[in-house]
Amino acid sequence: MYYIYLIAALLLTGCMDSKNKVKFDGETLIEQKCAMCHNLKMPPDTYEDEKAPPMMAVVFHLKDFMKITVDDEKFSKFIPFVQDYVINPSRDKSYCDKESLKTYGVMPSQKGNVTKDELEAIASYMYDFYDQQKYLEQMQAKAAFDALPKGEQIARKNGCFNCHTLNKKGVGPSFSEISKRDAKEIIDTISNGSHGKWEGFHVMMPAFKIKLTQENIVTLQKWIQEEGKKEKTNKTAEIPAQTPWKVKK
Ligand code: HEC
Ligand code: HEC
Repeated sequence: MYYIYLIAALLLTGCMDSKNKVKFDGETLIEQKCAMCHNLKMPPDTYEDEKAPPMMAVVFHLKDFMKITVDDEKFSKFIPFVQDYVINPSRDKSYCDKESLKTYGVMPSQKGNVTKDELEAIASYMYDFYDQQKYLEQMQAKAAFDALPKGEQIARKNGCFNCHTLNKKGVGPSFSEISKRDAKEIIDTISNGSHGKWEGFHVMMPAFKIKLTQENIVTLQKWIQEEGKKEKTNKTAEIPAQTPWKVKK
């Protein structure tokens, strides 16, 4: 009998533990408690109607001013500052420059809206998510993407590279092989899909006429045929098929 109680007690504490973790999910909490004033996107998707500095700017700024150099200081400096500031904000404590403080005004205390434990989870999420190195890599990937021809951008956004590559046979034929075909046929296949036209391919080429405008389909066709004329290179191989800088949903 005694053992049954012991097991039940262990099971109960196990459950409570996992509930606690779910309750303090920094990402969910920051959306609920901070997003009405701080833009949470990295980078911010708009600078209009700002009630507060974007959260990315807040975190980069705090890390710089606190001169945080090792991740341990996340726990000794960063989290305690956020926990205190959100409940007891003041002009003196703020690291915000004078001009910005004038525009935004001091942050109203969030006492009653958020607890200290919730703030620990929020601050921990802020520290990890708004990472300068990650941001730099995203910006580089985005710059590389923006430098691609329009047709290749459309192809990458629409998952064409999940099945095709520039020069090698994949799930579908390579774009350089395809480029030898007639323009009208290429446009027709992208619009309506196809199956069985090419020997040795078993997957269905999906139709894109609902997803893509006629203009974009023609841009794709022109790009495929331009690519076909070029020397064979693997210059874009390092850019992933998915758009990698879309961090937030
Ligand atoms: C009602 C609007 C509002 C809400 C809600 C809000 N903030 Fe702010 N926050 C501001 C404003 C305005 C500033 C800029 C002025 C300042 O530094 O006080 C700011 C600044 C900050 C700063 C920077 C302080 C500094 O020294 O630069 C931190 C950290 C911060 N907010 C965290 C949070 C967190 C975390 C939440 C959610 C729990 C939150 N804020 C919710 C308006 C808000
Ligand atoms: C699910 C895999 C898949 C995806 C995604 C895909 N394709 Fe295809 N594609 C194929 C296959 C397989 C073929 C060969 C079809 C055949 O044999 O009829 C093909 C053939 C083609 C052809 C041949 C034209 C012709 O008539 O000879 C073109 C052009 C083409 N794809 C362009 C694209 C473009 C552009 C995209 C993205 C908008 C895309 N494909 C997305 C699998 C795919």
